Formats: sequence, structure tokens, C-alpha cells
Amino acid sequence: MSKKVSRRQFAKIAGLSAAGMASPVQSAEAKPQAAARQAGGFPPGFVWGTATSSYQVEGAVNEDGRGPSIWDSFTRIPGKIEDGSNGDRANEHFHRYKGDIRLIRELGCKAYRFSVAWPRVFPDGDGKPNPKGLDFYNKLIDELLANGITPWLTLYHWDLPQSLQDRFGGWRSAETCKAFGSYAAYVAERLTDRVKHVFTLNESGRFIYFGYGSGIDAPGLQLSQAEVNQARHNSALAHGLAVQAVRAHGRSGTKVGPAENIDACIPAIDTPENVRAAAIALREMNASYLGVILEGRYTDAFLKFAGANAPKFSAEDLKIISSPVDFLGLNIYAPQHYVVASDQGAGFALLPFPKSFPHMNSDWLRIGPETIYWVPRLAAGIWKTGPIYISENGTSGEDEVGPDGKIHDTDRIMYLRNYLAQLQRATSEGVPVKGYFLWSLMDNFEWVFGLNKRFGLYHVNFDTQVRTPKLSASFYRNVIATNAAGA
Ligand code: BG6
Repeated sequence: MSKKVSRRQFAKIAGLSAAGMASPVQSAEAKPQAAARQAGGFPPGFVWGTATSSYQVEGAVNEDGRGPSIWDSFTRIPGKIEDGSNGDRANEHFHRYKGDIRLIRELGCKAYRFSVAWPRVFPDGDGKPNPKGLDFYNKLIDELLANGITPWLTLYHWDLPQSLQDRFGGWRSAETCKAFGSYAAYVAERLTDRVKHVFTLNESGRFIYFGYGSGIDAPGLQLSQAEVNQARHNSALAHGLAVQAVRAHGRSGTKVGPAENIDACIPAIDTPENVRAAAIALREMNASYLGVILEGRYTDAFLKFAGANAPKFSAEDLKIISSPVDFLGLNIYAPQHYVVASDQGAGFALLPFPKSFPHMNSDWLRIGPETIYWVPRLAAGIWKTGPIYISENGTSGEDEVGPDGKIHDTDRIMYLRNYLAQLQRATSEGVPVKGYFLWSLMDNFEWVFGLNKRFGLYHVNFDTQVRTPKLSASFYRNVIATNAAGA
């Protein structure tokens, strides 16, 4: 199994199934049930957007007083980034944002999800703010609004100020949570006159384990399971503090919620038994972050499994963590677990993936369009959520510019068409998915893959910074214009 596939096998759970919480595979009785499908498009007012993140696109890492982040340091360590690149320049979005906003407009997108670089606003993570750093986002937001595009802001997309890592051990310490709360308050106070939707942290399920457990991502640590669990708890606490900060310091009516790469559990075959089992699995496999946020407690099974490695927490922590959210943001790319019912353990079994299971250009990106139907449907049922937004979905591709100067990314179109058809199936059945943000607007710095993986609707030549629309940009424009997945 390749390193890349294993990157996405979220060890927040790796343990759970391995250690017997999920029972061994039992043959679930297969009683196929035809799911009701309806023709027709998405509901009126469905939000269509694209997404990027600060470190992946901005560049300008030393401009206007930005402090260093853990990714600036990590990318300097030889061998960490596949092609040796870093985010110093990336897409030069910091300087080219106006042109990039035109690209969003040309798609017909009415929404754009971007993240604020914490070290631009607080170069040391806490202490003295850097108003010049915030200016960039003021300009960005004004330009978006002038183009009829609604800004959706993410507070944290992994570029932790290096100083917090150095002084407190980053997410290992509740000091970082406090600093995050203050940063969230500062941003909310100054930007929610125009920004009405705020995502707290992007993908705790990834940045904690890959940053502090496997060491694949920044800051590259390999800590014990107990320390990883504590760091994850801290990230949930930081989320809760940010929710409270937005409520206290943002304009009234500002909506706030997480953007999580939910550990995606799907019934292997659509039978009532398997659907029930998948719902149990989804709840348990997400107990350490989304579960505690939405339920205000860790499940008994999680605590039992974690045993001596369980995070240390207080009742006050749980209250903060479960501060009510306005929406649930789900990043959904690939199925994580196909599930069948079992009469052992908690009532579910996770099936192993066959070696031949297909994937897209990124080998972690298994193709399972039904993921984007089942996961929101099950999540809405388990947690009685309010609105759900797909905060990320998309795929990488080889994306070569042809002799005609065009990029015929029919593989990406295939992926999007199938996922969007399943999303449409969800909305037509009343699952409360209210919007979709395609990852990504343009090719960018893809973390440890460097510039080797391309997820954009626009191709970027990283030497010249020329952006070229791929065929998928026309596909997405058509989806938005017709408000329908298309056949
Ligand atoms: C999501 C992240 O998990 O996946 C994005 O939120 C990222 O920031 C995308 O670009 C693709 O991930 P990767 O690991 O293939 O670069």
C-alpha cells in the first residue's frame, strides 16, 4: 500500500477498528432496495462555490509583516515535499487576487471559500496584531463583493504561526487554543460586517494526525497516541472557542461551523441493516471530533477504546466544544469505509478495500460518488444537523496542456459529474445540503505533493503564472448555470 493511500487512512480511528471496536466482517444479508431517485436539479438558492487556502495560493510569505508558519519551516526540511517546492510563491494570489476573482466570476460562482493566514494577522500567533496583514483580506473581501461573490472565510487551514509551535508545542497545548480564540475574535470583529459565513478549522482529522502522529505534514512530529488524542481534543476546544468568539465579536447573524474531512462510512449495499450499521460506524468513527462537537460528549465506545490514551478534559471543555454551530461543513472526496451490519462489537464491520479498487490521479482519492450522498444523509440523521455545506470536493488530474493549448480533463469531469449526481440525489430526498465548494479554483501548492498534483478548474503554469481554464471549468459553469448535475 502506498504512502499516499495511507495518508488518508485516518488513524483517529485506525485504532478503533483494529482494536476490536468494529467487529470482524460478517456477511450482512443483502436485500437490495432501490433508492428513490428524482430527476430535476438542485434546490433554488443552492450555493455554488470554489475554494482555496492561504498557504496553498497566496505566496508573499515575507510581505506586509507576515510571520513564519509551520509550513514555511516544514517545506525547508529536505525530502518532506515531493518536488522540493514550497509556498513562498505558490500562485502569487496575494498580488494577483483581482484576476483570480475574475476567474471565479467567469465560472458563475456566487461564493468563494478562502482562508485567512493566521500569521499574517498575528505574526507570533498571539500578542500584537498586524493590521497590515488583515488589510489583504479587507481588499480581497471588497473585491469579491464588488464582483457579486459572497466570501466564505476559513479561520485555520493549517498555517499555524511557527511561534506557537516553538513556544507551546502548537496543538499539543491549550495555550494555542486560547490564542486561536483571540485571533478568531479579532478577525470576527473586523470582517463580519461583510463576511456572513465563517468556518473554524479545516480538517482536524487530517492536520492533527498527519502533523502530530505520522509526521507526514507540518510540523512533522510523531507523538504517542495519547498525545495525538490530546492534540485532537485541543483542536475541538479551539473550534469551540472560535465559535464563541464569532458569536461574541461578530455581527449578529454571522454563521459559524466546522469544515471537517469526516471519516466517510457508507453502506456497502443499500439494505436497512447496512444503512443502520453505516450510521453507527459514522458516529463512532467521528467520535473524537465531529461527535464531541455535535453531541457534547465522547462516546462510551471511543473512551473505552482510547483507555489510558483518552484525552484529559473537563466538563467546561465539553461545554465550549459543543457550542451550537449554525452549519456543518463536510469535505468529501473519497469513501473511507464500506460498512456492513454485524452482530458483533458495536454492530458494524468495515470491509477491506480490494487492491483493484479504482482511484483518481491521487492514489488516496478512491472513486466512490455515493459517498457524497450517504455521508450527508447519515450525518443529518445522526446529529440532526442544520444546513450542511460540502466545503470541499474535487480531484487531482494529470492535466497536460495539449498542442492546441487546451486541457481536456475529462477524468475530472467524469468524477464531478458522478459526485454531483449523487449530491443531487441527496438534495432531492430532502437531505439538508445547501451548497457545494469545488476544490479547487486553480492548481496550487498541494502540501507534501508540492506542485505535482493539480486539483484546479484552472490550470496554472507556475513559471509564468498563466491561468488557463480546463474543460472542467466549462463543465462546472454549465452545472451552475443550469443548477443541475447534468447527465
Ligand atoms: C483537502 C485539503 O484535504 O485536500 C486541501 O483541505 C488539499 O487543502 C486537498 O489541497 C488535497 O489534498 P492533497 O493531500 O492531495 O494535497
